Amino acid sequence: MIAQPRPGSVLTPNDRRREKLLPVPRWPTREEAASSRWFSPVRLGPIEAHTRTWIPAMVPWRATEDGFVTPEVLAWYERFAEGQPGVIVVEATGIRDVPSGPLLRIGHDRYIEGLSKLVETVRRASGGRTRLFIQLIDFLAIKRRPPRDTFIGRFLTLDDAYRARMADVLGEPELAGASDETIRARLMACDEPTLAKVLTPRDLESYRMGYRERVTDTHLPHIAELPKLLPGLFAAATARARAAGFDGVELHYAHAYTMASFLSALNTREDGYGGSRENRVRLPLEVYRAVRDAAGPSLAVGCRFLGDEAIAGGNRVDDAAWFGVELARAGMDFLSLSKGGKFEDARQPKVGQAAYPYTGVSGAECMPTTHIGPPGPFGRNVPLAAAVRRAVRAAGFDTPIVTCGGIASFWQAEEILARGDADIVASARQSLADPDWFLKLREGRGETIRRCLFTNYCEGLDQAHRAVTCQLWDRLKGLPDDGEVLRAKDGRRLVAPRR
Ligand SMILES: Cc1cc2nc3c(=O)[nH]c(=O)nc-3n(C[C@H](O)[C@H](O)[C@H](O)COP(=O)(O)O)c2cc1C
Ligand code: SF4
Repeated sequence: MIAQPRPGSVLTPNDRRREKLLPVPRWPTREEAASSRWFSPVRLGPIEAHTRTWIPAMVPWRATEDGFVTPEVLAWYERFAEGQPGVIVVEATGIRDVPSGPLLRIGHDRYIEGLSKLVETVRRASGGRTRLFIQLIDFLAIKRRPPRDTFIGRFLTLDDAYRARMADVLGEPELAGASDETIRARLMACDEPTLAKVLTPRDLESYRMGYRERVTDTHLPHIAELPKLLPGLFAAATARARAAGFDGVELHYAHAYTMASFLSALNTREDGYGGSRENRVRLPLEVYRAVRDAAGPSLAVGCRFLGDEAIAGGNRVDDAAWFGVELARAGMDFLSLSKGGKFEDARQPKVGQAAYPYTGVSGAECMPTTHIGPPGPFGRNVPLAAAVRRAVRAAGFDTPIVTCGGIASFWQAEEILARGDADIVASARQSLADPDWFLKLREGRGETIRRCLFTNYCEGLDQAHRAVTCQLWDRLKGLPDDGEVLRAKDGRRLVAPRR
């Protein structure tokens, strides 16, 4: 049986598709929820979460340009806290004290005050039930895709190898001794296929996608030094998280960012931090040890990493299982699994825009929609968490494993836990669609849940660096709180309606 629409609501084709793929024959009663696995407590190192429900990190683009907490940030997390999940992980928050647009930052003590307010807000709104973690991120430089004339005229560094290639490809030996001006002028006149033959693969990528730093760029001193720099930066950020009152930190070892790139099979660094699995996990472990020292006895410390990078030549689940064991052995309090979200297969951005890692195959795997191929988006990534969990348990560790990806119904979560595929079940987009859904489930009001359509309108806003909202509620009108609710400049509600 397929869930019936609420009175007065109309099923769109997307609704029907979702209902077909993830039917909910019935919602749990209050008693069933109370005795369920999902709503039972779980220990995460020094702390306990009151349920195994979890809202993973979601960047909502609500911080100031300088990375400070705003009233909009507070309202975003307050709304999630009202649903009383076991854990909320605050969005990826930058550990460096460098400009990074309206993304939260924790790279200096001046951020502690705002983050403390965030902690207080979540405590109050959840009645002290929800544990609040913060995701700590480091990322490398990425530039917008340049216009052709800017790239060839200004960005491209010419050398004798370029001159020789131009001479060879164009069949004009005299170009081997030509001036930079002449070479640039000739390159400007080349058609795209010729340009592709002349440019080095790395320059061609910078031209087509925008320049992007890699952890393997060890000819750049600041990249070579990352293993020296990052443990201290992550530890200092952890000390600030502790000072602000957070219950835990989640080290961002997933997706397209620095630490995931160290773990990646594509990491060929030759300084002991690349190549073999042992070398690739070296920095993540060093960071963890520094963080653990800064965390003190009361802060939970875990990480999010990839069960599968979903790119050519990248890590697969057997790599993830191996890393999971090493991270558990080191003493992590939880391991949260994600998938994909890499730059390597990102779609070509428009000129003037930066590549976005949640495009391409790996992006689709990270935030799967109802349009993804078999077996569909729902619980799609659970087998990865299950494989990591099996390996961690076989090695003798009981580290809780968090799974995520297309989980949007109570029975789905219960089955995952009953099968022993994970210890904690996280839901990002379903929680955005209805931040009250955990509370509604506990109260036996499942039929009133606003169900996610899994078509990624929210992710499209993230991609455009616009305030993230949900299509199911951001344009709703005539609600009791209409007068007071925070809105984006274009009139969209920034906070889900309460009901
Ligand atoms: C708008 C948006 C922002 C996100 N930001 C982050 C982030 O900061 N860190 C992270 O690890 N994952 C991020 N994610 C990925 C989610 O945490 C989650 O892994 C993904 O949405 C799949 O889970 P779901 O099917 O429950 O939505 C984001 C997802 C969305 C939709
Ligand atoms: S906007 Fe995002 S959260 Fe809302 S229904 Fe669509 S996919 Fe789900």
